[in-house]
Amino acid sequence: MKKDYKLPSLNEARKRDKEVSDKVTFFLDEQYKGLGEGKKYHIITHGCQANQRDSETMAGLLEGMGYSPADDEKDADVILINTCAVRQGAEEKVLGEVGALKRLKTLNPDLIIGLGGCMAQEEESVKTIMEKYRQVDIIFGTHNITSLPKLLYEVISTKQRKIEVFSKMGEIIESVPVTRFMTHKAWVNIMYGCNKFCSYCIVPYTRGKERSRYKEDIIYEVEQLVKDGYKEICLLGQNVNAYGKDLGINYTFGNLLNDVAKTGIRRIRFMTSHPWDFDDTMIDAIRNNPNIMPYIHLPIQSGNTQILKKMNRRYSREEYFALFDKLKKQLPGFAFTTDIIVGFPNESDEAFEDTLSAVDHCQYDNSFTFIYSKREGTPAAMMEDDVDRKTKEERLQRLNEKVAYYANLNNQRFKDQIVEVLVDGFSKRNSKVYSGYTPENKLVNFTGEGISTGDIVKVKITEVMSFSLNGELVKE
Ligand code: 5AD
Ligand code: SF4
Repeated sequence: MKKDYKLPSLNEARKRDKEVSDKVTFFLDEQYKGLGEGKKYHIITHGCQANQRDSETMAGLLEGMGYSPADDEKDADVILINTCAVRQGAEEKVLGEVGALKRLKTLNPDLIIGLGGCMAQEEESVKTIMEKYRQVDIIFGTHNITSLPKLLYEVISTKQRKIEVFSKMGEIIESVPVTRFMTHKAWVNIMYGCNKFCSYCIVPYTRGKERSRYKEDIIYEVEQLVKDGYKEICLLGQNVNAYGKDLGINYTFGNLLNDVAKTGIRRIRFMTSHPWDFDDTMIDAIRNNPNIMPYIHLPIQSGNTQILKKMNRRYSREEYFALFDKLKKQLPGFAFTTDIIVGFPNESDEAFEDTLSAVDHCQYDNSFTFIYSKREGTPAAMMEDDVDRKTKEERLQRLNEKVAYYANLNNQRFKDQIVEVLVDGFSKRNSKVYSGYTPENKLVNFTGEGISTGDIVKVKITEVMSFSLNGELVKE
């Protein structure tokens, strides 16, 4: 089939230039306002926190056009799917979902379906959607979110499918409308993209080069959130420790942490740290500011130096331990979590044993564990994926048992203790029970009365499980 559209290119996305990114200010064009009056939208979000935050931008843009939210996709005039490409399974889930939406399109031919996020950056995925999923009207890339109003306008007026995906992006766009999905916790982007190029990872291709937002814009955003009553922010970046390096200024993530802490926001978290750039100014900032939460996520990915080298992680097992041990010593009482991949190409039994023993060494509070998934376009995709499925699954299971053991062991210290919980609302499983998180990011389910979302309350822990704590509200 001849294609009459331009495909994105992961190859093009690989390139990095040295230029400092331009900052541009967004304006919603008058002609798009009112286009969504009386109409509804629904957004389905997959993947990481960056995607959660991007969906809030999509919602902000749509509401700026007059659309209002629909809880149920059946009631929507526009459905957007914000996709994830980090593993094959995430992509398959999206394709299943898009397939199921065909029925809604048959019932309502005016329904507009848009697909954005990381899958939209991959040429193969875009080709598949353009050829096999004709119910999708708009494909927009991670760098093209602010084009949504224009794309919707064009689809409505021409009835043609639209695709806009830039493979590269050198800009930081400020003042884009946002509709936050929570009223007490907020995501705050501090930088976009990733320059690390871990050999298995698609993110540096789908999200482009590292671009830091100016500190003034970040601090202003947090100050506004404090004024609006927000209790917690999470500073977001694929690798927050590299903050500021692309701006060519002498201002690091440690400096930013200190300045954000001065806004007086009650709780500060950050995601994700790469061990490579974790410096002493960061450790000092974390230690000296009580509103920076005692929780650090420090992905190890593997405990074997040869595999780490093939992953292009830039540290050895020993170097990771040296940093980890230093953090553990200098930040007592902190919770530590990690990400681990099993079944990377050529991972031998011995290499996997090294990962298990690394978990014994670090005794993480929790670990997010994944089976390696081959991503076309990444260097690891050229390596022979020689670990069979059964071995990968067995390794994952053995690893998960160890992870649960240490998670449980770490949680024991909270038994009978009084902890501070920021309340998210009712628990997912039981509408008589509230849930929220401690400063160490421990999930607490608890009973009590007169509690509202966004309250910070004291809870006595009565029962300890591996991945959550149970308790009762302490009356003050
Ligand atoms: N296969 C499996 N897991 C992956 N991750 C990233 N890319 C892959 C892949 N190709 C994991 C890493 C990363 C987390 C967000 O997802 O552990 O830290
Ligand atoms: Fe992917 Fe590595 Fe960048 Fe994390 S640091 S987004 S794993 S390339």
